Amino acid sequence: MILSGKVALITGSSRGIGNSIARLFLDNGAKVVICGSKLENALEAIKKLKQDMNVSDDNVMPIGINMKDRSNIESIVKSIIDKWGKIDILVNNAGITSNVSLLDSTDQEFLEMFEVNFFGVVTLTREVVKYMKIRGGSIINTSSMVGIYGSRNQSAYASSKFAINGLTKSLARELGIYNIRVNAVAPGVVETDMMNIVTPEMKESLIKMTPLNRMANPNDLTGIYLYLASDLSKFTTGTIINVDGGLVI
Ligand SMILES: NC(=O)c1ccc[n+]([C@@H]2O[C@H](COP(=O)([O-])OP(=O)(O)OC[C@H]3O[C@@H](n4cnc5c(N)ncnc54)[C@H](OP(=O)(O)O)[C@@H]3O)[C@@H](O)[C@H]2O)c1
Repeated sequence: MILSGKVALITGSSRGIGNSIARLFLDNGAKVVICGSKLENALEAIKKLKQDMNVSDDNVMPIGINMKDRSNIESIVKSIIDKWGKIDILVNNAGITSNVSLLDSTDQEFLEMFEVNFFGVVTLTREVVKYMKIRGGSIINTSSMVGIYGSRNQSAYASSKFAINGLTKSLARELGIYNIRVNAVAPGVVETDMMNIVTPEMKESLIKMTPLNRMANPNDLTGIYLYLASDLSKFTTGTIINVDGGLVI
């Protein structure tokens, strides 16, 4: 089991892509902190995990972290250290999106996007690195294809993902000295609740632009997270890996 003995903190793991990553990490021997924006959502996700797979309470920990209110992040990280003594893997995956033109948008909407998609990542990563720097570790940020080429009517979301890419490369340079690797995954179109804001016509056109000619299932992405979390990628840092069916080539 490739992650045996490892402790992983995965934000946005109550559902969607993060939930699929959590399942694969558990299958591969990790202890996993399951996070929702509210504790109830994390507890509900763990209930479903237990129905679907053989998971013991010793291997999962529920946490509610609302990235809009980051005042309790320090104590949340401390509670994980108190329980399991370390964090080897941090997956910054929680995110929100929006579909609004610049002229219809407000500064407040841009601020909210950055609170969740960027500042949440900054605050949590800073707190985790305080402990991770003792042993080294792997930080994986979920970016997006729109963080590479932008997106019409999604300037707030796309800008937050460009910021994540900049953070990924800069922290890779800064934290390598502690043997902490920092990488990002840039998904294409993935069938999760997040895609509910996209019209069927937009989905159809995105599929047409994708060489593999379909949307991804969250499980199509998880292998790359396992690779980046494990020692298989021990000399890989500062990369942004597209997992998008060839959409961005
Ligand atoms: N789906 C796609 O096509 C796609 C494409 C490219 C990139 N991505 C990126 O992939 C990541 C995961 O997206 P997804 O498709 O899995 O989305 P999703 O199904 O909508 O799940 C979002 C996750 O983020 C959590 N979350 C939302 N707001 C939060 C907040 N304020 N504080 C803390 N957690 C919060 C949710 O927790 P609750 O359950 O508690 O609400 C949930 O676990 C995001 O960063 C997204 O930008 C997605």
